[in-house]
Amino acid sequence: MLVTQLFAKDLFAGKTVFVTGGGSGINLGIAKNFAALGANLSICGRSQERLDGAAEELRALGAQVCTAAADVRDFAAVEAAMAKSKEQFGSMHVLVAGAAGNFPCPAEKLSSNGFRSVLEIDTLGTFHAIRAAFEQLKETHGSVTFISAGQAFIPYPWQLHVGAAKAGNDNMMRNLAMEWGKFGIRVNSIAPGPIANTEGMKRLMPEGMEEDFKSAVPLGRFGTVDEIGQVACFLASPLASYVTGTVLVCDGGQNLPGSGMWSFLLAQAHKMS
Ligand code: HXC
Repeated sequence: MLVTQLFAKDLFAGKTVFVTGGGSGINLGIAKNFAALGANLSICGRSQERLDGAAEELRALGAQVCTAAADVRDFAAVEAAMAKSKEQFGSMHVLVAGAAGNFPCPAEKLSSNGFRSVLEIDTLGTFHAIRAAFEQLKETHGSVTFISAGQAFIPYPWQLHVGAAKAGNDNMMRNLAMEWGKFGIRVNSIAPGPIANTEGMKRLMPEGMEEDFKSAVPLGRFGTVDEIGQVACFLASPLASYVTGTVLVCDGGQNLPGSGMWSFLLAQAHKMS
């Protein structure tokens, strides 16, 4: 793990990092990078079983861990998860709002409920997280990181719902950075590109087309969850103490040429065009 070679191993010692959706994928990768740098980890998600598995991985890296089953769509559940974390570790220093939902679907076939589900998980869920975390972050002068996506600033076909949600989140991030600067709270987004071995990629890219999709990324490869974890650690660290209100794009350049080639490959993969 590169963070432990390049950052002080106690960079987040005594600090608490709360990750929504922290039981798997990019969010667990982020949690692991913080754990390797000494943080206490609080993770919430819908499945306690998944959280238990993730907690084991985090403990193996030396972290103390608090888990709480909570669907981010349920404000009371998010509040309860954060109260449990506070009881165990004191107020959080870092919030990573990563819980998200996605599936590819042409706009003309997307149901009201499908659109609502993604907006409720991604956008309402992110609002719930920052709203419930505010008092703790105010106390620690903490930082918040949203997990965004290229869909927030480039239109991708069959991702209308995700684009609406992530663009809304990034604007919420900028709004918060402006409003909460006076409390010493920094707020930023990370926009990951295609990250290997994640649920998001499984849903968008069928097996067997990896090499085609990689050729549409300027760096010629997919990213790793650790590469997103690294930038999350940077953003939450004193190295980024004057950084707020920004989207850090970590995508190997995938979004630079627009979504044309990616869209073509998606159309081939899903036969939806
Ligand atoms: C069309 C679909 C669909 C699909 C679900 N729906 N899957 N419509 N195509 N493949 C519709 C359903 O028909 C239903 O509408 C509505 O969405 C809600 O579905 P439920 O399964 O009842 O919802 P729920 O159990 O709340 O699940 C939410 C979910 C699900 C988002 C639909 O996929 C989920 O829980 N995902 C969490 C994990 C996940 O998605 N991880 C990837 C995140 S990656 P009707 O009208 O039938 O009632 C990510 C990054 C984005 O977000 C960027 C990627 C690069």
